[in-house]
Amino acid sequence: MPRPVLVVDLGAQYAQLIARRVRECRVYSEIVAHDLTVAEIAAKRPTGIILSGGPKSVYEDGAPTIDPGIFSLGVPVLGICYGIQLMARDLGGEVAATGQREYGGTSLSLEDDGGRLLQDFSSTDTVWMSHGDAVTRAPDGFRVTARTDAIPVAAMEHPERGMYAVQFHPEVSHTPNGMEVMKRFLYDGCALLPDWTPTNIIEDSIERIRAQVGDAEVLCGLSGGVDSAVAALLVYRAVGEQLTCVFVDHGLNREGEPDQVEETFGRHFKVPLVHVKATDRFLGRLAGVVDPERKRKIIGEEFIRVFEEVAREHAGAKFLVQGTLYPDVIESGSKTAANIKSHHNVGGLPEDMDLELIEPLRDLFKDEVRLVGAELGLPDEIVQRQPFPGPGLAVRIVGEVDAANLDRVRGADHIVRDEIKRAGLERETWQAFCVLLADVQSVGVMGDGRTYEHPVVVRAVTSEDAMTADWAKLPFDVLDRISSRIIREVPGVNRVAYDITSKPPGTIEWE
Ligand code: XMP
Repeated sequence: MPRPVLVVDLGAQYAQLIARRVRECRVYSEIVAHDLTVAEIAAKRPTGIILSGGPKSVYEDGAPTIDPGIFSLGVPVLGICYGIQLMARDLGGEVAATGQREYGGTSLSLEDDGGRLLQDFSSTDTVWMSHGDAVTRAPDGFRVTARTDAIPVAAMEHPERGMYAVQFHPEVSHTPNGMEVMKRFLYDGCALLPDWTPTNIIEDSIERIRAQVGDAEVLCGLSGGVDSAVAALLVYRAVGEQLTCVFVDHGLNREGEPDQVEETFGRHFKVPLVHVKATDRFLGRLAGVVDPERKRKIIGEEFIRVFEEVAREHAGAKFLVQGTLYPDVIESGSKTAANIKSHHNVGGLPEDMDLELIEPLRDLFKDEVRLVGAELGLPDEIVQRQPFPGPGLAVRIVGEVDAANLDRVRGADHIVRDEIKRAGLERETWQAFCVLLADVQSVGVMGDGRTYEHPVVVRAVTSEDAMTADWAKLPFDVLDRISSRIIREVPGVNRVAYDITSKPPGTIEWE
């Protein structure tokens, strides 16, 4: 990997966003915990360090701190929000409660032309603030480059020492010029080049995969989703036919997906592909099951069984490819959240299979995976595909998973996605799909006749990361078209409802 810009996580939810912004400037970044020692930080050979915001006051008991040796490493540092306060306090300035909490869009007054960091700002620029305490005196040698009506130090810097800091949040979209702060810090302050590009990511990753795999055989589970597709193609580029992809078709996929996997991987890229058509096996085991967790468990277990059967025919395989992403890597260290739903991901490693993992995406965010996928030549339908749960449409049927219910939910899902795409809303909705209430029937009238059939619920959400989500405010005419097409085109469905629950308190999927 290239040497990273380290984002020190001081406890706010902003560290990931900052790391992403750095990467949007085409500079490689990693998130690290704030309690690393200066030696541990130095061992990562950072090219720059960013101290993130944090929820606390620097004077509060238990407030997160950093090893102050970080300021003497000779590596440029950018302090953001809580980070400016740590920098000020540790380098001999003053931080105090100003009595005036600033929250929201705030006008900056530039001093000294904004210095190096704010050189692209004008004095009418608005920035996003969220703080109680503030720096009241900058450390010796620092220049104050901006203030606001409420605070005397909204930005400060000491370019000769490589120290820069802002009280506001440059990483949020509510600070319109925020990316300029990141760019000035990275390109001018750290003298970095914007060379973390998809092409470089691909070359780098191919080299590492080759070094890891040698001439061994590799297996990869394809799900039809973007992560496993990109991971598989990277490995294919690296080791060619040493890779065998396995697509376990459980019959719970969206319309057209199995064919597309076959078409893209088997015919277009010519990746060796084992397509296991296992619908009957899965439906057999799911017969009569309505409990969501039971469904998830059964599908997970059956998936592993099928995968193991294929793996036995490739007994020489030493590696298994997994599409783990960077947010999974960061979160798995700190996950204390209650188990709301057991997640099942295609490609999950059966414990006794003794395969070593290859995780070519473990340094990447989802949007970067999409860029890499596009660069590798994957078609848009895969690259832009919305997230889809491993247990597939089974968890979008409230009630029994059988062929008839699957046809209903698949047909309705296809219409929703089609209409969202036609309306040009695909990129701004995180997910849009249907849930079939197979256990419910309601009375309707169609032509001259009474109907007594099932409702589907349309679910469309906006989200940054699926941890929280808002229901999408789809235009009424789009909802109207979705509703009339579903009722006209999907047999067995006579009513359409729209889910207007956010997450929390709802989850995105119903089961
Ligand atoms: P929930 O329903 O928990 O979903 O709000 C959050 C996100 O995760 C997706 N999801 C899954 N993804 N395996 C997956 O890979 C699963 O078992 C699974 N269950 C839910 C869901 O579609 C949403 O994007």
